[in-house]
Amino acid sequence: TKPMSIAELREMRTRGEKIACLTCYDASFALIEDRAGVDLVLIGDSLGMVLHGGRTTTPVTLDHIVYHSRCVAPHLARAFLVADLPFLSYATLERALDASQRVMQEGGAKMVKLEGGREQASIVEYLSVRGVPVCAHLGLRPQFVHKMGAFRVQGRDEAAAEAMLHDARVLVEAGADLLLLECIPTELGARIAAESAVPVIGIGAGHRVDGQILVLHDILNISPMVTLGRTPRFVKNYMRGASDIESAIRAYVAEVKSGAYPAPEHRFDLPLSVTEKPAA
Ligand code: KIV
Ligand code: NA
Repeated sequence: TKPMSIAELREMRTRGEKIACLTCYDASFALIEDRAGVDLVLIGDSLGMVLHGGRTTTPVTLDHIVYHSRCVAPHLARAFLVADLPFLSYATLERALDASQRVMQEGGAKMVKLEGGREQASIVEYLSVRGVPVCAHLGLRPQFVHKMGAFRVQGRDEAAAEAMLHDARVLVEAGADLLLLECIPTELGARIAAESAVPVIGIGAGHRVDGQILVLHDILNISPMVTLGRTPRFVKNYMRGASDIESAIRAYVAEVKSGAYPAPEHRFDLPLSVTEKPAA
């Protein structure tokens, strides 16, 4: 098996093949996801919620991310491994570089992901020119929960949409190799993907982007959010109709590839109704 690379992700985008991404936190699931054809695996700081049972991602530490990266990395033959930089671990250039060094050298990740817009451009450039591939996470940014108070669909009006388009441009110019868009209108996802020089992955960002990502525990219908009855609109339960976990993950990959996921009920198509706010 040929391991996935940034070059291959770009080629998939060029030939119009959707990129299927999923979070992962341990060896058992790493083996299954890899076998099921997941193209990109993320060590998400969502682990603070689905593994630790926290209400937010902000208590997650760099040690947690490195630990779970080490559980996953050796078991991926093909999938591309990306690791989240946790809350405040990239607050300065030096911290960002140290954090990236740890998740890449100790954790085995091939790319780091950080949240933020154009104000993070200097950090993206600092990492990028030193050989650290970066995914920039725009739109709804869970690490800003304490600043925001509540989570809503982002980029809803034209001014906010233009600002996000500008952020995307600046971050790619700074060296970002991938963009991730969370919880934005389908039309804005499509505009950013159309303009972008790099692949654009969405979660609640509609179907007109280059790939999709979801949280593993959400698609298996076992996350605390499911128990609390607060799953976001974009989540789909792939255990429904599946005989086992591997079949569920295969079904997710197949629906991302075919474009069947995300269906209209998983998207924020304009105009949004007032009830369409994602669960926090
Ligand atoms: O932490 C996470 O799982 C993420 C994805 C949902 C994009 O950042
Ligand atoms: Na995350």
